[in-house]
Amino acid sequence: MAAFAYREFGLSLHSSKRDLVYSRLLKRLHALGMHRFHDYCDLLESADGRGEHDLVVSALTTNVTHFFREGHHFDLLANLVVKPRLAELKSGARLRIWSAGCSSGMEPYSIAMTLLDVLPEAAQQNIRILATDVDPAILARARAGLFSADEVKPIPDRMKSWGVQQAEGGQQQIASKVQKLVRFGELNLMQDWPLRGPLDAIFCRNVAIYFDKQTQARLWQRFASLLAPGGMLFIGHSERLSGPAEAGFSSVGITAYCKL
Ligand SMILES: C[S@@+](CC[C@H](N)C(=O)[O-])C[C@H]1O[C@@H](n2cnc3c(N)ncnc32)[C@H](O)[C@@H]1O
Repeated sequence: MAAFAYREFGLSLHSSKRDLVYSRLLKRLHALGMHRFHDYCDLLESADGRGEHDLVVSALTTNVTHFFREGHHFDLLANLVVKPRLAELKSGARLRIWSAGCSSGMEPYSIAMTLLDVLPEAAQQNIRILATDVDPAILARARAGLFSADEVKPIPDRMKSWGVQQAEGGQQQIASKVQKLVRFGELNLMQDWPLRGPLDAIFCRNVAIYFDKQTQARLWQRFASLLAPGGMLFIGHSERLSGPAEAGFSSVGITAYCKL
């Protein structure tokens, strides 16, 4: 299982996580009428097992996310990426932001609200936020844009007034002008990225935490080669830029970096 998770998804499973993995996947084994992990691993490696891959990533990672998580990252995005370019963006300049490992969409929707807060006509400009995740089930939730009242609480009030609408059953619906800025897609960070750079900012937060040092270093390098000079990279609060890519960035805040 560890070899499979590492090869396919870059997930590094230490033996300390063995019990966690075991308990999370046990239900799935029982549902399939299997009694041995060995048989489940054989299924994963077979052509019939493709459909199981998503369940394994879901079981081995968490989708925990929040709106405006690490609020200072969104302030930096507004102040360093959007505001200095307001005039050119209004006249059609291109702005591309990638939320890599976007989970249920709270991160890319927070990015979209940050842009609209500074540039209310952002959806009519050449501005796009690409939001990707390896887990198709969580992407379906992200595309729906429906959240609970508790989940939307961290959205600043001034943005909530135009960014979120009441939906049935007390649910909160992300407004269409916010949704229009975001394109969701399935993407495994360990595989090829069908993306066109240069990008102005990449958010990859609380994803690399599952990868070992070597995989992280390769990921930072791939991000560096996609970013425009001056482009920003935001990573998770417990993650650090390391490896050869580090020299190509300057630190501009806590876990926020600017490509030199
Ligand atoms: C903890 S969530 C982070 C969500 C958001 N970025 C944030 O910080 O709030 C981690 C996400 O990474 C995704 N993930 C894990 N391995 C991945 C991989 N190899 N490629 C793409 N996404 C991956 C998971 O599916 C999960 O949705």
